[in-house]
Amino acid sequence: YTRAEVARHRTPSERVWVTHGSDVFDVTDFVELHPGGADKILLAAGGALEPFWALYAVHNQPHVLELLRDYKVGELSPEDSSPPPVTTEDPFAGDPPRHPALRVNSLKPFNAEPPPELLTQSFLTPNELFFTRNHLPVPSVEPGSYRLRVEGPGGRSLSLSLAELRQRFPKHEVTATLQCAGNRRSELSRVRPVKGLAWDIGAISTARWAGARLRDVLLAAGLGDKRDDGDEWHVCFEGMDEDASGTPYGASIPLKRALSGDAEVLLAYEMNGQELPRDHGFPLRVLVPGVVGARSVKWLRSVVVAPRESQSHWQQNDYKGFCPSVDWDSVDFRAAPAIQELPVQSAITEPRPGATVPAGELTVKGYAWSGGGREVI
Ligand code: MTE
Repeated sequence: YTRAEVARHRTPSERVWVTHGSDVFDVTDFVELHPGGADKILLAAGGALEPFWALYAVHNQPHVLELLRDYKVGELSPEDSSPPPVTTEDPFAGDPPRHPALRVNSLKPFNAEPPPELLTQSFLTPNELFFTRNHLPVPSVEPGSYRLRVEGPGGRSLSLSLAELRQRFPKHEVTATLQCAGNRRSELSRVRPVKGLAWDIGAISTARWAGARLRDVLLAAGLGDKRDDGDEWHVCFEGMDEDASGTPYGASIPLKRALSGDAEVLLAYEMNGQELPRDHGFPLRVLVPGVVGARSVKWLRSVVVAPRESQSHWQQNDYKGFCPSVDWDSVDFRAAPAIQELPVQSAITEPRPGATVPAGELTVKGYAWSGGGREVI
């Protein structure tokens, strides 16, 4: 069979097919018997089992393969086992491979969320399933030659390699939820159409992050003395991802937050105990707990302490909130402050709207998040 033929078998009515190695299986009769639930096995329907088994290690036992063998219906044609050729003119050709369970809202740039039923499978979202919000192609960074530039007023600056960042500053860990401002936009659009990616309820994920405290790095660069200034100072971040004109992604946070010990703002190089994946900012990203995801700049190139906010498009003309009477013809982006902290958020992940459920007692799953680093009450 070709992969395209396998991909046509995604529902019990069209039969449910999966592949493992070069073998093809019809697991329709096993769907209801799957110990993890029918909905979970259906996420792999029409494609390969390996990416799912890699995440859920209970499958790595001999009896699972034995059980699968009973459902074998054929093999993949040899020419279909090799990956498709890469075209180099495509600016997104260098993007990393992604997990097939992700629900893709836009392929180029890549924007995707975990399916709701996998989001509440574990408190920490596995890196492979963590929602991804990219505005531009994913940059390819050589970690050996990488340097972070830290700059302040009066020409004070610091340039750090990854090794220096790890050695000079204590490693700090924080469990934090990251949420995109567009989370649940598809529900908003049912009330009144809204522009932007049609995120469902999964533009939110939680990880254990590790890295240097931004505060420690700023103090080492001699940039901590703006604390008592009457006017607000800002810390502006720039990424290494650029648009066609060479303009990088950028955003900023108030210096007060960056210097606050409680706010735990990180320059993170690890996510859930692993090196940062490429989609999430390898080799270094900002992580601002409790604040809209847009400020947690990935593929971090520079940190600049300045008397004004980042002048980037994404700080000035996006990620702002307006009252319901404002629309795209009347909006004045200068009239609203940039979103920083986000408010309370919650959603039900299981059962999904419209699902048929058995009569009687029902287990409902979901998430609740307070925003701003506040605790859940
Ligand atoms: N940083 C860079 N350099 N480029 C980006 O496109 N997207 C931002 C932020 N940092 C972005 C970025 C937005 S809008 C969000 S919500 C988060 O990254 C998403 O982080 P994630 O993809 O690791 O979930």
